[in-house]
Amino acid sequence: MLSASTLPSAQARLLEELSEELRALDDRALRRRLTVVDRIDGPWVEIGGRRLISWCSNDYLGLSAHPALAEAAASAARDWGVGARASRLLAGSTRWHARLEEALAAWFATDAAIVYPSGYLANLGTLGALLSSRDVAFVDRLAHASLIDAVRRTPATLRVFRHNDLSHLAMLLSRAGGARRRLVVTEGIFSMEGDACPLAGLAELADSHDTLLYLDDAHGAFVTGATGRGTPEAAGVPHERFLYMATLGKGLGAQGGFVAGPSPLIDYLHSRAGAFLYTTALAVPVAAAAAAALRVLAEEPARREVLRRQAARLQERLASLRLPGAADRTASHILPLILGEAERAVEVARRLWDRGCWAPAIRPPTVPEGTARLRLSVTALHTDAHIDMLIDALADVIT
Ligand SMILES: Cc1ncc(COP(=O)(O)O)c(C=O)c1O
Repeated sequence: MLSASTLPSAQARLLEELSEELRALDDRALRRRLTVVDRIDGPWVEIGGRRLISWCSNDYLGLSAHPALAEAAASAARDWGVGARASRLLAGSTRWHARLEEALAAWFATDAAIVYPSGYLANLGTLGALLSSRDVAFVDRLAHASLIDAVRRTPATLRVFRHNDLSHLAMLLSRAGGARRRLVVTEGIFSMEGDACPLAGLAELADSHDTLLYLDDAHGAFVTGATGRGTPEAAGVPHERFLYMATLGKGLGAQGGFVAGPSPLIDYLHSRAGAFLYTTALAVPVAAAAAAALRVLAEEPARREVLRRQAARLQERLASLRLPGAADRTASHILPLILGEAERAVEVARRLWDRGCWAPAIRPPTVPEGTARLRLSVTALHTDAHIDMLIDALADVIT
């Protein structure tokens, strides 16, 4: 490694500027640090010799460590190797990618599906391919950063509507008559709020304004709806009303992102989505594991029921504590506890840690200023005793 004195001066200056910015982030409790997990055992994690219950995993159905996924990944790694070796359009499209896409299309009853190496890339690639300078995108104010980043990178006009506020959206839509495409971008279950989007009303509004709907169902796919077909199924709105995107790394316990839809859309993305074209394909064992997860879900529907029951239990127990900042509108497996300033959220997270509960502080810019929070996510792996332990800890820590 070069010492400071041998660094080129431009780089030494850059590092000095970055260090200064890091100090400023530290002063505002906004600096991020990685927590290295040494071992995972169901909902338990081991970190630096401490065993804690994790309340921050998105492996909602507990599939990530399922033996069928592990075996599918191990077997694919033995037969195919690990890396996909190239982008999908070069040598990277294996039979496992094709099988996974066919299985996703069958799951959502669409013509086809396209898999990206992550959900972030799926949003970047898809929205980037669909939006031009002649278009207007209407994005919910609390939509995930990947959606906002994706739209901002396009030359389309960005309009932000108040969270889940259909009247505000209607007003903005009525002012965008001249656009080639109008595209509403929102989430099925909001990643940091845990509340659902009013899908039925939204679909009606979009129809009446001849407008497209892009639904990111990262936190609803495979988890919500009577058969795990996601928030459209839960809301009773046909899937084809949406341009439907979701991830493989949450409810499915694997990794990746996808769009499931009509053939012309998927074919177009094969040719025009930069984040699909210019990146190495999803690792083959991961594609095989995701395909196995779909089979497990079909065979073990009770996992969704366990998750629903445990989410309801945590919601009820939280409501009975009457904690300041507990959202009253959450009815999902994501439960935010809004604490205000970043310093307070960090302090509460630290005290929970001392009581064996891992729920890191979520701070701006991930959430709006003044709404730093704990984001508790329940999984099918949490037992009643784990929930009781969290509730006791919260009752002690938040006053
Ligand atoms: C709503 C939403 N969309 C997209 C993503 C990105 O997905 P991935 O983690 O697969 O990149 C996330 C992940 O955190 C998310 O919460």
